[in-house]
Amino acid sequence: MKYTTNNVRNMFLKFFEQNKHKIIPSSSLIPSDHSNLLFTNAGMNQFEDIFLGNKKFNYSRVVTAQRCLRTGGKHNDFHQVGYSTHHHTFFEMLGNFSFGDYFKKEAIAYAWNLLTNEKWFNLPKDQLLVTVYQDDQETYNIWKNIIQLPECKIIKIGHKNNNVYESDNFWQMGETGPCGPCTEIFFNTSNDKKLYLHDLKDKNKYIEIWNIVFIQFNRIKHNKLIPLSTFSVDTGMGLERITSILQKVNSNYKIDSFHDLIQSIYQINKLNISNNNQSINIIADHIRASTFIIGDNILPDNEYRGYILRKIIRRALLHGNKLGIKKIFFYKLVSSVIRIFGESQKQLENQQKKIENILKEEELQFNQTLSKGFKLLLNEIKNLKNKELDANIVFYLHDTIGFPIDLTQDICHEYHIHINISKLQNIIFEHKKKSQKKKITINNIINTIHINEKSIFKGYKYHIITSNIKKIFVHGKEQSTINENEEGIIILDQTPFYGESGGQIGDSGTIFIKQSIFEVYNVKNYAQAIGHIGKMHTGKIKIHDIVTAKINKKKRLLIQNNHSATHLLNSALNLVLKEKIYQRGSFINEKYLRFDFSYFKPINIDQIFNIENIINHQIQKNVNICEQYGSIHEAKLKKYKFLQHKHYNSIVRMLKIGKFSKELCSGTHSKRTGDIGLFKIISEKKIASGIHRIEAITGKYALHKIQDQEKNILEIKNTLQSNDSELLIKIKKIINYCSNLKKENQILNKEIILNEKNQLIKKIIKIKKIYFLNSETKIKNRKLLKIMIDQLKIKINSGVIILFYQYKKKYIFIVSITNNITHKIQAKNIVEIIKKYTNGSGGGKIQTAECIINNIHDFYKILPHITSWISTYI
Ligand code: ALA
Repeated sequence: MKYTTNNVRNMFLKFFEQNKHKIIPSSSLIPSDHSNLLFTNAGMNQFEDIFLGNKKFNYSRVVTAQRCLRTGGKHNDFHQVGYSTHHHTFFEMLGNFSFGDYFKKEAIAYAWNLLTNEKWFNLPKDQLLVTVYQDDQETYNIWKNIIQLPECKIIKIGHKNNNVYESDNFWQMGETGPCGPCTEIFFNTSNDKKLYLHDLKDKNKYIEIWNIVFIQFNRIKHNKLIPLSTFSVDTGMGLERITSILQKVNSNYKIDSFHDLIQSIYQINKLNISNNNQSINIIADHIRASTFIIGDNILPDNEYRGYILRKIIRRALLHGNKLGIKKIFFYKLVSSVIRIFGESQKQLENQQKKIENILKEEELQFNQTLSKGFKLLLNEIKNLKNKELDANIVFYLHDTIGFPIDLTQDICHEYHIHINISKLQNIIFEHKKKSQKKKITINNIINTIHINEKSIFKGYKYHIITSNIKKIFVHGKEQSTINENEEGIIILDQTPFYGESGGQIGDSGTIFIKQSIFEVYNVKNYAQAIGHIGKMHTGKIKIHDIVTAKINKKKRLLIQNNHSATHLLNSALNLVLKEKIYQRGSFINEKYLRFDFSYFKPINIDQIFNIENIINHQIQKNVNICEQYGSIHEAKLKKYKFLQHKHYNSIVRMLKIGKFSKELCSGTHSKRTGDIGLFKIISEKKIASGIHRIEAITGKYALHKIQDQEKNILEIKNTLQSNDSELLIKIKKIINYCSNLKKENQILNKEIILNEKNQLIKKIIKIKKIYFLNSETKIKNRKLLKIMIDQLKIKINSGVIILFYQYKKKYIFIVSITNNITHKIQAKNIVEIIKKYTNGSGGGKIQTAECIINNIHDFYKILPHITSWISTYI
């Protein structure tokens, strides 16, 4: 086939290459650090700075096939997928770009030539029509006079909401950034060649195939556009759409590459072809999106980019569920995606296993949620008295169990059960209100103050400096003085105190002037200012006072040892686990360090020891820990590790530990690795799907831990009178011995119960139609007693059992009633009678009740009363 997806991509790139364009590889789905986009949504994203004139580029004409994701912000197609035949979350955008080189005339001519020339896409001219921005007469004239398109096929599109620059033909990347008027080319798929303007909205008849944007402005806020000094061209054509037209199929999901993937979905799940296409299309779209997002190093999460990924995966799984797929399946499709894209997406090479593992874990986890939710929901439905499910239950399923509301609705629909949607909306609304309120109270004054000052951090070098008081806050309000016993926040012009960030806790210490002392408990960053949070211990401090700021040095040294150890751990993990692991969080204080990272396999004790050995080896080498400042670009070139989600300034601090570790970090660190002393992992566990947590200690804490363990072992050895080599054998022997004893005990217990039961059975009498047993028993063990009573109940089938035994000088009574007569006689009532006449105490439930009495003769006296009471009620 001439127009396979891969061929179409190549033809596009080749056409522009022949017209002097440089082929540039697609950028990642994660936009550059300073972009305000969640995901790359257009081919032009990677060139944003070049369009704006902030950056020079070696080429003035380029062409790309860019991977894009449209799941949020200005361009969101998430909910169209499955319902529209021509929309995707993930797709490839073909685009040619001119940076101050050619403009409207050439851009339009290139597009027209590629689309209609018989050597290229050879589309019939009479099926093409275009839209132009209503004020862009120049573009209109190009289509009319140069391309010679009939006027009826050039449609002017006006403003939206009476707003200039707000139009379907005025393209913008996001809320801000490069923008300009555009002209769009549509393909008429129907035989009806007559055009009615409103028809353009008929997305099945007219398919928008190519957008050519003339970048002329920088939008800095909603209605504020600044003209750019050079004009550029940005174009975008969805690869899947143009391919569907060239392959003459009426849906993107029918083109060769999707067809192949959809076949895999059918085969892997043994579905028959008549199954619901909408769900199949959604699964096909979402597995492509998931594969590429994970391929660009995003993991499922509850926030930010990871949340979008999780939403996509879960939606696909729900549709799998809808199709009746019972086994986990989604991860099995990754290999098909990678095979279909082949050479064109090289970054996926070698990533198959990782992507499969991540999806598999996510799927297993979601399945658990689903089965828990299903069980609960079906049980509720079974017990419904009418045909309405309480909205509170729908909310509980969603909020506590994570079971999607859509799914509850679908299932209820099947069972013809009604849900009161407006009540549900109210519950959700109230819940949101409540949690917002909670946030406000939790985010107390400390977190809500805004400070415009800038403080200089001097704490890399100094532990004590003099400084000027710039601002004082007491109870969230700016004040000129802080008085004795008042709590507040102090801002200094320069400080040795480190503000909590990057996992490292804030310093503590004192700020003082003469006899006045402010005790600092914690330090936080407020934009550019460093806030010292604490209490005025003695005296008072005023604004502009020259004070001494002194951190708790002992504590800081311990913190920084742990911070440097965390960097060593990060590198050691990569070495030992033989995979690139990603940091997912960290916490560092003076006592220990915690490091969370993504890894999809279990970690064994040998690996843990290996990590400890490597780190302790680095500590023994006593290598230098040094910092260096440079641009983010330089840091990337030098292969410094940085966090995917973090926003970095243009100048970054590069922290290097010998040749072993390179990370961007603004935290405080030891001078040399020897300062750390000793490193010991104290726990390793999985805290979420694919996320491990290691906790470790250093220096004297590590030594004390090892000594404590040594002491424990010594005590065990003494108790067991064993030496090192025999200890384990001895413990195993004891366990073995205990388990044999347990077995023997069970056999004996069975015999005891049997003997006693046989004795008791002889004492059973009949009262009307039921049986009655009343006796002292030799069995005093509660567990055995319960087993015996249950067996006796089975034996008598319907009746009352009263057993008692002596305990110290008192008697304990247990009354038990077979289930089938509890509507007539209840155990707690019999206990009430016994209590009343014997001065006893106790209580219980319908089936079983207990009491304790002092004198057994009192009981014998009232026994006739009990039997006659039973016979009255039975
Ligand atoms: N950047 C333009 C678009 O995405 C071409 O439609």
